[in-house]
Amino acid sequence: MSTIIVGTPVVAGLGELFITHGLSKKVVVLFDEHTRKLYGDELLKTLAHQGFQLKELVVPAREASKSFSAAYRLYGSMIEADVDRSWNLLAVGGGVVGDLGGFIAASYYRGIPVIQLPTTLLAMSDSSIGGKVAINHPLGKNLIGFFHLPELVLIDPSYLKTLPQREIYSGMSEVVKYGFIADETFLSFLDLHFKEITELQEPWLTEAVTKSAFIKEDVVEKDFRETSGVRATLNFGHTFAHGLEKLAEYRHLRHGEAVTIGMVCALFLSHNLGYLERISLERGLSLLKKFRFPRGVLKRRFLDIESEVLLENMFSDKKKLDKKLRFVLLKTLGEAFLLDENVENNAVLSAIDEARTFFSGKSVHSR
Ligand SMILES: NC(=O)c1ccc[n+]([C@@H]2O[C@H](COP(=O)([O-])OP(=O)(O)OC[C@H]3O[C@@H](n4cnc5c(N)ncnc54)[C@H](O)[C@@H]3O)[C@@H](O)[C@H]2O)c1
Ligand SMILES: [Zn+2]
Repeated sequence: MSTIIVGTPVVAGLGELFITHGLSKKVVVLFDEHTRKLYGDELLKTLAHQGFQLKELVVPAREASKSFSAAYRLYGSMIEADVDRSWNLLAVGGGVVGDLGGFIAASYYRGIPVIQLPTTLLAMSDSSIGGKVAINHPLGKNLIGFFHLPELVLIDPSYLKTLPQREIYSGMSEVVKYGFIADETFLSFLDLHFKEITELQEPWLTEAVTKSAFIKEDVVEKDFRETSGVRATLNFGHTFAHGLEKLAEYRHLRHGEAVTIGMVCALFLSHNLGYLERISLERGLSLLKKFRFPRGVLKRRFLDIESEVLLENMFSDKKKLDKKLRFVLLKTLGEAFLLDENVENNAVLSAIDEARTFFSGKSVHSR
């Protein structure tokens, strides 16, 4: 698996770390426009001082950069700069840069090592770990990709200081997810220190990020290629979330926002199908109540959407409506499982209705 290092400043000892890991000090550094502007000069200077040979690449800061055309352009710049198999790629940014950088590293010269330097909470706690790298296809998100584990994941929570509040909440959603699926004590810690963590206060922030990263690494280690159902538990809340993201054209709702709503739906579904006790449902809901959405987003992107429309969009392909949806449910707080049987559409619709009531405070008719 990967070596995960948590520290500030995490790049201070990078030269040494490269040597210990048998990596050459030749690095393609990939940024998006924001991370280049915020951290590029300082980072490149630090690496140059440590004797690194560098080639810098920058992509626009948007989901659309996870595309074949962006990758194709970057391959060209690398070939022109004589980057060969002896080089490594360092991805400095959120999940977009991490996924794109990992994709390029996995394919360039049949694979060069990738080192992840995540700068969003979502990337630190989730996307930089586990080796799933991908670009999007016009027909679907993350459809073209590889399993390509990073050699190193360098986590430095101090990068989060410049991250907008909306992105903090989005990342926090995945952090809370780890509590739900794997660790009840961690869930209680997150509930108790939600405010401190989202205000980036130490030591709570580092504790939350570190714990999340290691839970993810642990889950991935048990089921790297997602064959046994263990890795699939990382998708708690995601079956609902993917439908919401699709309806929001992957633009108007952050991934974590969709996951927060999705986890509320999944908690109700877990309870309604008889797996999760009411008291646990209520504890879970009271934690999820702490998440904030920008004005109008929750209304337009969830409350105003009919449950049937959301359900339809949860299927990856409209022609496959008869295919069964896969749900990750909770047995108890801290223990998730992939449900192996079909769930009646009505049960899914009821869970969505209840989540809507939860977020709006208004009652809806029951099915
Ligand atoms: N590979 C995986 O396992 C995995 C898991 C979850 C999500 N993902 C992918 O991750 C992507 C989403 O990642 P994300 O939420 O990090 O989004 P992102 O990479 O788009 O980053 C969000 C925004 O924050 C900016 N930013 C990054 N670091 C910053 C900093 N320190 N200060 C200020 N601004 C900063 C970015 O430029 C961008 O505008 C999606 O494409 C999703 O598919 C992958
Ligand atoms: Zn996710």
